[in-house]
Amino acid sequence: MTDAALGPSVRREAGYGGAMLDLLVRAGRLPSGKTPVDIAIKNGRISEISPRIDATAGRVIDAGGRLVAPPFADPHFHMDATLSLGLPRLNRSGTLLEGIALWGELKPLLTVEAVMERALRYCDLAVSQGLLAIRTHVDVCDDKLTAVQALLQVKKQVASYIDLQLVAFPQDGLFRDPTAHTNLLRALEMGVDVVGGIPHFERTMQAGTDSVRTLCEIAEKRGLQVDLHCDESDDPFSRHIETLAAETVRLGLQGRVVGSHCTSMHSMDNYYASKLIPLIAEAQLHIVPNPLINITLQGRSDTYPKRRGMTRVPELRAAGVNVAFGQDCTMDPWYPLGSADMLEVANMGIHAAPMTSREAMSWAFTSVTANGYLAMGLPDPTLRVGGPASMIILQARDPIEAVRMRATRLTVIREGRVLAETAPRLAQLSLPGRPKELDPADYAPIAEG
Ligand code: FE2
Repeated sequence: MTDAALGPSVRREAGYGGAMLDLLVRAGRLPSGKTPVDIAIKNGRISEISPRIDATAGRVIDAGGRLVAPPFADPHFHMDATLSLGLPRLNRSGTLLEGIALWGELKPLLTVEAVMERALRYCDLAVSQGLLAIRTHVDVCDDKLTAVQALLQVKKQVASYIDLQLVAFPQDGLFRDPTAHTNLLRALEMGVDVVGGIPHFERTMQAGTDSVRTLCEIAEKRGLQVDLHCDESDDPFSRHIETLAAETVRLGLQGRVVGSHCTSMHSMDNYYASKLIPLIAEAQLHIVPNPLINITLQGRSDTYPKRRGMTRVPELRAAGVNVAFGQDCTMDPWYPLGSADMLEVANMGIHAAPMTSREAMSWAFTSVTANGYLAMGLPDPTLRVGGPASMIILQARDPIEAVRMRATRLTVIREGRVLAETAPRLAQLSLPGRPKELDPADYAPIAEG
């Protein structure tokens, strides 16, 4: 895809009073749209969406009938640990607990500069992948709060191109770690946005319950959101999500609370789950499963069958709960892979759920776009007239094809500014009697309904 020259069909129209657009995206297919539309952009906002817009523009980008969608959101990440794979050693067992221990070995060695350097490199990658909203947990179990200092600076530095939210995360337990509570409050004072926690890692179930109550009260007093690592465990009796739902209702925090992971729900008794899920819906909790990580960290102490540990996505959806997939990790003590690719996350979510209806696969795309924004308390990113001109053009024609192909992000635009461009993936073929060039997305049918 290249800039289209301002050809004879592009001319000034009275509707724009002769004013030039900043950017015009031609022939883009919206996630819900059957036919391509033009998108006019002026002063960072979408000024018109129509089948054909005749106006001059500072730049015209021909989307060529490909998908134009809101940027991706990742509502669950650990930017303080990202790209640290192998520091100071690799996770041999592949378990969550060895990952926490390994991170504990690395923490005293961290410097503000090193954390910033890794985080900024990750942010570059994220932008290239069209990922422009990230909620990262930041470990506060460190009296120097090195990672907090670093990520607060990163947040400032990337503010013009990434919505970066920080969660004060007591990785070693709010009560299990002697200074975590104090440090969590210090981090919030320093400007960290969201209250985090890890009730299943406290010493006892009761301590976990108490931590949920304490953390929700902190959030209520300060008017903040809550995002807890909740029941990231194969233990079917890890039921802190129940307390989180109850505390949310008690304190009037509905809509402002996220339960992340919730993997124990995978192993729970069906009867209990049938009571729990309506309580989650009643509390308007957002649920953030992290498919890549959940299916690789959970079930590690099983023989066969090995549980895969992802929470009950179809059932939560059916109850009306906002479910947004998160990435959690990229090349860190818990996960050796990852590439800031939310389409990979959605693709894995479809497999792990499992859910392969056209409706559910299309929903998976929404779960890594609009649903993530909703979970993070950010404005709806749906592309609409008057809304911010933040969008990505993908080498695919519809959301399902994008997830299936993990489509190349051809153009990434934030408030009318082009942030990143990648050439389409095209194979040059040398086969007898066959086409010379293959666009891997070209032969797929357009999704129906
Ligand atoms: Fe996490």
